[in-house]
Amino acid sequence: MKVLVVGASGLIGAGVADALSANHDVIRASRSSEVSVDLTKPESIAAMYSAVGKVDAVVSCAGKVTFKTVEDMSFDEYRDSVMDKALGQVELVRQGIDYVNDSGSFTLITGILGREAIQTGTAAALSNGALEAFTYTASIELPRAIRINAVSPTVLTEATGYHAYFPGFEPVTLAQVVSAYVKCVEGWSTGLVHKLG
Ligand SMILES: NC(=O)c1ccc[n+]([C@@H]2O[C@H](COP(=O)([O-])OP(=O)(O)OC[C@H]3O[C@@H](n4cnc5c(N)ncnc54)[C@H](OP(=O)(O)O)[C@@H]3O)[C@@H](O)[C@H]2O)c1
Repeated sequence: MKVLVVGASGLIGAGVADALSANHDVIRASRSSEVSVDLTKPESIAAMYSAVGKVDAVVSCAGKVTFKTVEDMSFDEYRDSVMDKALGQVELVRQGIDYVNDSGSFTLITGILGREAIQTGTAAALSNGALEAFTYTASIELPRAIRINAVSPTVLTEATGYHAYFPGFEPVTLAQVVSAYVKCVEGWSTGLVHKLG
């Protein structure tokens, strides 16, 4: 399969791209990768697809949100968080339909903060919840048997900088998260949120 991995220079993205490279032709994209894309800019997504052409799977491991309490968040910070993590990935799907081959797939990233609360997590919750609802509903509309799923991990063992914000949360390993992505790309599910933790 030809697989486009967006966010391939990050912790999750590099793990996913490396694992999929064993059996697939993987194209790595991010703002700083050779295939450049900024998910916050629709014209940048269009340029990426135009450069890459048809693919069998689009995998997203990107998305940034602001972590602040509700009282400290501004309207602009909520808007920018949703624009980046939620609408950036929605746009990756919307524009990507024309580039994904029959029976291909999209795999998006959400996270545990859509279903469990931590202090400063509302922008993440908003984006993750929106993406999971989108995944479920888009799955019944995508043409040509194209599948769509989301991977929703808790904090990763390897993301040590975040552990203090997740007291009592049992981390999952990068290897477990990578396996969920492989299941989404090589398997048969659609409309599912693959929850880890
Ligand atoms: N780490 C965790 O414990 C954890 C747990 C649950 C969910 N998540 C979610 O998983 C996703 C990835 O997390 P991570 O820890 O792997 O993050 P990371 O190491 O910071 O990597 C983020 C990746 O996304 C790319 N990126 C950032 N902004 C982008 C943009 N606007 N357009 C295109 N690419 C962009 C980055 O590369 P460039 O800077 O080159 O663009 C990088 O490749 C996030 O949405 C995060 O919320 C993470």
